Amino acid sequence: MLFERAKAVFPGGVNSPARALKHLPAPLVAQRAEGAYIYTDRGRLIDLCMAFGPLILGHRPRPVLEAVKAWLERGWLYAMLTEPEVELGEAITRHVPSVQKIRFVNSGTEATMNAVRLARAYTKRDVIIKFDGNFHGSHDYVLVKAGSGAATWGTPTSAGIPQDVARLTVVARYNDVDSLQRAVREAGDRLAAIIVEPVAANYGLIIPDLDFLKAAREEPDAPAPC
Ligand SMILES: Cc1ncc(COP(=O)(O)O)c(C=O)c1O
Repeated sequence: MLFERAKAVFPGGVNSPARALKHLPAPLVAQRAEGAYIYTDRGRLIDLCMAFGPLILGHRPRPVLEAVKAWLERGWLYAMLTEPEVELGEAITRHVPSVQKIRFVNSGTEATMNAVRLARAYTKRDVIIKFDGNFHGSHDYVLVKAGSGAATWGTPTSAGIPQDVARLTVVARYNDVDSLQRAVREAGDRLAAIIVEPVAANYGLIIPDLDFLKAAREEPDAPAPC
């Protein structure tokens, strides 16, 4: 069975914590895909996951397939500047006004790690706030869960993360403005950034309370109570 072979070469038989299955006997094995459908060892399924987001046009749309094939004919890895990456960057900044500059990375983990570092460098502060149950990848600063209490200094989610690192993260409750306000007070003038899944999708799909998201944006800038 493929999963037995996978377990022999990969910890837990998978290559991402998001695919780790503690309670199921074996994961689905993907074989091919087309449009909205994915074909697995257990039959054809409608794919509501779409690789967690990047396949916004579905599987194998013809124009994308043709463009990828054309580029593969020319070469596939240069580690140098290329015209298509500049065109993609320009297209994103054109369509998303709040995006002024971009750094393309390979994974969500790298993206959040760089965002946290940038926030710390810009603010010259060291503490971040995250929300219990939100997942932001597998670097040390975000693999942190709540200790006891509503707004607390975090404890590591994984062995191998030093307590001293986890203590740079305050953990608050998602969708809970009081807990967010307590966390902001707790972090005080050490707060560099708040990181949040705008629509929490990693412990079920939790629709955000708009007041909560607004508070997450505005609370750190609010004057401290006298
Ligand atoms: C909201 C969010 N941020 C970051 C990540 C980490 O992404 P990656 O697995 O590409 O490192 C994930 C992955 O599930 C995610 O859902």
